[in-house]
Amino acid sequence: MNAILQLIRRVAGTGSTIMISGESGTGKELIARAVHYNSGRRERPFVSVNCGALPDELLESELFGHMKGSFTGATGNKKGLFEVASGGTIFLDEIGETSSAMQIKLLRVLQERRIRRVGGTEEIPVDVRVITATNQDLGHMVREKSFREDLYYRINVIAIEMPPLRDKREDIPALAEHFLDKYREIVGKPIHGGLAKSTMECLESYDWPGNVRQLENVVTKALVMAEGSPFSRPMRLRM
Ligand SMILES: Nc1ncnc2c1ncn2[C@@H]1O[C@H](COP(=O)(O)OP(=O)(O)O)[C@@H](O)[C@H]1O
Ligand SMILES: [Mg+2]
Repeated sequence: MNAILQLIRRVAGTGSTIMISGESGTGKELIARAVHYNSGRRERPFVSVNCGALPDELLESELFGHMKGSFTGATGNKKGLFEVASGGTIFLDEIGETSSAMQIKLLRVLQERRIRRVGGTEEIPVDVRVITATNQDLGHMVREKSFREDLYYRINVIAIEMPPLRDKREDIPALAEHFLDKYREIVGKPIHGGLAKSTMECLESYDWPGNVRQLENVVTKALVMAEGSPFSRPMRLRM
């Protein structure tokens, strides 16, 4: 994690395009936000889009906006998220899920730094830093031709790889303590003391398929379920 934070410090201010890969829950969006808020763009918006969640037509209108009457239901002109993020950062999550038609459109935006709203004719310049994320192996997808090679090279300028939590178990105690402190207040129970040694060992030996997100959920749940003791007995974790 420290190595990744060092890299962020080095690249945040540069405005360069960043691609973050890693399993779900490893902290990709957290890193993207850290880059944004450590850059000169911090006063401008950070806009996060899940490219895998929407069908093509909707995604296109979300990203690039549309003009009144360009399709049924387009009752007015609407800015796309690239315009909303102007001066800031756009985070394109699940970029590997985009269709080949959408990949061409994204490539065009990254090359020209201009967008055209759906149904519009005007080319609108956009000044946006692009950070993408994927839990897929895009290099492999390029080789089997399900992801465009030209787009791959455009987005893969600075690559950050988030390791799964099971490969950096030494981070587990610090993360667990962090979440414990973070949620202790929120859960609203007078829970004193920390994690029992046996609990920590259990956390450290587990494989965490859901990575940091899962650890966060488990700690929160443990706080909710804990028999809060005012006498600093170790908290009992139930998984
Ligand atoms: N190093 C970290 N320190 C604190 N919280 C973290 C860390 N990494 C991830 N998290 C938390 O774990 C959850 C999942 O992170 P997220 O960035 O959404 O993962 P991803 O985008 O890879 O699925 C979030 O609540 C995030 O705040
Ligand atoms: Mg995510």
